[in-house]
Amino acid sequence: MNDVFRTITSKRDTRVFSTRPLDPGALDRITQAARMAGSAKAAQPVRLIIVTDQAQKDRLSQCGDFTPHVRTCQAAVAIVLVPEAGLVGAPFAIFRGPFDAGRAAQNMMLTAWSEGIASCPASMHNGEAAANVLGLPPGHVVANVIAFGYPTASGDPVTGTRPRIPVENFAAPERWPEEWE
Ligand SMILES: Cc1cc2nc3c(=O)[nH]c(=O)nc-3n(C[C@H](O)[C@H](O)[C@H](O)COP(=O)(O)O)c2cc1C
Repeated sequence: MNDVFRTITSKRDTRVFSTRPLDPGALDRITQAARMAGSAKAAQPVRLIIVTDQAQKDRLSQCGDFTPHVRTCQAAVAIVLVPEAGLVGAPFAIFRGPFDAGRAAQNMMLTAWSEGIASCPASMHNGEAAANVLGLPPGHVVANVIAFGYPTASGDPVTGTRPRIPVENFAAPERWPEEWE
């Protein structure tokens, strides 16, 4: 098993963090990992706002329905999508931004986990409030916020409680199987 596969398969979303600050340089590597993610037509619609100030984390934590981990993480990284000029109405426009944001998010989370930093996405159900907290210009949206921090010794009670579906129900050759719903 190589290191990349081990990092991917051992990563679980973690909502409980230690108070240990992130190692110097870790946030730079996490940022760089997002920046290097490919994007459709190399449009690069992703920007990051890196929130470490406690008052700002508290405000952001209020913008989601299931986001207390934003308050207690060491760094909350907001993935912002800039408006896609000239692409409004294009058939793939609605898929491109979230896909690009997802690539950046996973790059960041795996880079973090490869050096022992846990993470969990945090959906901003009140996207307008989150945009206001971050001071975004009109038309910019928060795709997600990723909370980062070292795991605690006692662990996160939620982590590992959601097993993945069996591989035979997950991947099929050539065509959608009739037995799949
Ligand atoms: C797009 C997206 C949004 C998510 N939003 C939240 C959230 O708002 N709050 C939360 O606690 N977890 C959130 N999660 C984490 C999921 O609940 C988690 O990925 C899933 O439970 C699997 O967790 P595991 O890797 O620990 O098995 C989100 C995950 C994704 C992919």
